[in-house]
Amino acid sequence: MASTSCLHVVLVLVLCFFLSTAMAAAPRKAINVPFQKNYVPTWAGDHIKYFNGGNEIQLYLDKYSGTGFQSRGSYLFGHFNMQIKMVPGDSAGTVTAFYLSSQNTEHDEIDFEFLGNRTGQPYILQTNVFTGGKGDREQRIYLWFDPTKDYHYYSVLWNLYQTVFFVDDVPIRVFKNSKDIGVRYPFNQPMKLYSSLWNADDWATRGGLEKTNWANAPFIAAYRGFHIDGCEASTNETFCATQGRRWWDQNEFRNLDAKQYDRLRWVRERYTIYNYCTDRSRYPTMPAECQRDRDV
Ligand SMILES: *[C@@H]1O[C@H](CO)[C@@H](O)[C@H](O)[C@H]1NC(C)=O
Ligand SMILES: *[C@@H]1O[C@H](CO)[C@@H](O)[C@H](O)[C@H]1NC(C)=O
Repeated sequence: MASTSCLHVVLVLVLCFFLSTAMAAAPRKAINVPFQKNYVPTWAGDHIKYFNGGNEIQLYLDKYSGTGFQSRGSYLFGHFNMQIKMVPGDSAGTVTAFYLSSQNTEHDEIDFEFLGNRTGQPYILQTNVFTGGKGDREQRIYLWFDPTKDYHYYSVLWNLYQTVFFVDDVPIRVFKNSKDIGVRYPFNQPMKLYSSLWNADDWATRGGLEKTNWANAPFIAAYRGFHIDGCEASTNETFCATQGRRWWDQNEFRNLDAKQYDRLRWVRERYTIYNYCTDRSRYPTMPAECQRDRDV
């Protein structure tokens, strides 16, 4: 008798646990703040134009230079969001990037790279994750909309449990903390946010076959939504490393919910064109963290 009711208690607990982890939420929406509040140009500041009091900016790429910007602060965990309207028309050869990176040699990095294309041909969104200086974890997707027509949200949710890449509210990639199976996870190196627009016609479009047509320069990518919702490590690193206090640490952000997994599967089935996890010629043995990826 006693063991049966014990079993009931266990079942109820398991159910409660399941229900609470299934109650995931979408990350908070960023609010608009002027560029200057959180960012500074990294290089070629003369190729950045400011509009609407710095609430919107444009990056210019011409045959002399591209340009880029970076956050003033460094962050340990949070939700990092940018609204971008990609280079329209013939953008072949250009790359627009939005990424987080630590500044040391064994660096951690979380990447969005948008590879341009000829007019009417689809952009590729390539993502990658570096941990302790090791990358080679590319995934590539086509988008389900034209990223040059309107602003869309591109964001990263980063906590101790998972790193999620979102396009608008759709999770397109999850990199789970797989430390328990020997995979390094970004957890102790503060990162800055960066963005840039540059010429990469040696590899970007159809593997480098399509070159940048400079007759169409300047190439222009537009940005807004410069809010940053992260723990600023320069203020107090000990505080950032203390888990469980901020909204992105809470239970509902430790795993995707069933609906989010559905969306992720939808991206996998319809829009994914490359996944290092399934590339057996490159990785005869599946990389360890891909075991988790396969659960999707
Ligand atoms: C560009 O368009 C071609 C033809 O549709 C396609 O094969 C390729 O994946 C597209 N994107 C890039 C970045 O090469
Ligand atoms: C940093 O955060 C820790 C943990 O919250 C706290 O104990 C410490 O007093 C803080 N230090 C400063 C300088 O604010």
